[in-house]
Amino acid sequence: MSIFPAPPDPRRPVDIAVGIQWGDEGKGRIVDLLARDYAIVARFGGGDNAGHSIEVGETKLALHIVPSGVLVERTKLLIGAGTVVSLRGLVDELDTLVKLGVDTSRVVVSARAHIVFPYHAALDRLLEKQRGGAAIGTTGRGIGPAYVDRVGRLGITFGDLAKPEVLATKIRQALLARAPLFAGAEGVPREEDIVGETLTLAERIVPHVVDDVALLHDAIARGERILAEGAQGTMLDVTYGTYPFVTSSHTVAGGACIGLGIGPTTVGRVLGVAKAYCTRVGSGPFPSELSDERGERLRAQGREFGVTTGRPRRCGWYDAVAARYAAQLNGLDGLAITKLDVLSGFGRLGIVTGYRRADGTPCGVEGLADPGLQVEVEEHPGWDVEIRDVRRIADLPAAARAFLDRLAQVTGVPVLAVSVGPERSALAV
Ligand code: GDP
Ligand code: IMO
Ligand code: MG
Repeated sequence: MSIFPAPPDPRRPVDIAVGIQWGDEGKGRIVDLLARDYAIVARFGGGDNAGHSIEVGETKLALHIVPSGVLVERTKLLIGAGTVVSLRGLVDELDTLVKLGVDTSRVVVSARAHIVFPYHAALDRLLEKQRGGAAIGTTGRGIGPAYVDRVGRLGITFGDLAKPEVLATKIRQALLARAPLFAGAEGVPREEDIVGETLTLAERIVPHVVDDVALLHDAIARGERILAEGAQGTMLDVTYGTYPFVTSSHTVAGGACIGLGIGPTTVGRVLGVAKAYCTRVGSGPFPSELSDERGERLRAQGREFGVTTGRPRRCGWYDAVAARYAAQLNGLDGLAITKLDVLSGFGRLGIVTGYRRADGTPCGVEGLADPGLQVEVEEHPGWDVEIRDVRRIADLPAAARAFLDRLAQVTGVPVLAVSVGPERSALAV
């Protein structure tokens, strides 16, 4: 279903959905809902650090790398060139989907995407250990080290899987380059084991590997539409996020152009996905965090535990300063607000509308990581009625509508859809 007010421009066949907070905004749930209007749903960055949940009837899925359009029949699912992918993780996810009766021949991986090997995950954990108290709180999936190898030209691509002799040599070179870091460390994967496992997994995966640039541009030439699915969130972007407490990829909408090999002029609309409040997993600044009983209630009512690592998510109010920044970075056309139902019965609600430095001077997003940063919280009346069955924004309680109007106003972007439950149909427009 389309939630955009205007019909698509046929000259701009790519739409993008991105998270505008610190991840877990409900992107998977929104992409699943939008997917039927697109021939291809494509992930453009990240890897299985992502966890995207979708619920359709009795089927509940937690996807880590396969795009969230997978429960929509006939949609092609592309794992794009900008991603880094664990072979074992991908095969496990394909197996889960096969068990659900999903036709996985629709899932394809770019020959340009990079492979995340067990030594990347080992290195990720080792580096985190070395960081000690300054640890980022990564997912431990090897995402950072795999992207480091990509820019360091030590990476191995899905295209390499079809060339076993090249593969073994490249794995040896990559391990040699890592040897000093691994010296003395425990649990370092052995070269023979990695080569052996990779060759076995390659048999399953090679049939899914494609020339993604040809695939996407042929589809565009046929007049088909493409939905680019973001992973993580804007505030975790490697450049524009709360560096160094970020992931290692470009999570902003611009990342879709690089991660899928499409020009900016092909992009039509950009949808920002945001929770009606905020969460963050892992370390790093989070100005609107509620470190009191209200934060715990948000976590309990919103079931805020990570899909990938099971870690409790830190919870806080909607941060309009960060959201305005995200609206600029992504060029947002509209917002999909999720988890509004979680706020039912919460009592008074907050929206962070400004920051002040420790000395009291007002500041913008540039002060986000300042020690002693204070936030200005605007209070709003809550509502007590259950809203999970509401399907029109106009039918929401007046206090909920006022809260949404204010979110749109302080973010500077219209609210196009409101999610009121995890299942596909629970959407008000
Ligand atoms: P993603 O990473 O952005 O795809 O989001 P996650 O799947 O990691 O986290 C979102 C969580 O909230 C999942 O457990 C969803 O099932 C759930 N969810 C999504 N939208 C809603 C909603 O509107 N209401 C409620 N109650 N849960 C939701
Ligand atoms: P989705 O797509 C929330 C966070 C980690 C850590 C930081 C770096 O489900 O929204 P990494 O393993 O990427 O090197 O970890 O980024 N992080 C996420 N947080 N949702 C995600 O994905 C995340 N992917 C990474 O918790 O703080
Ligand atoms: Mg998630």
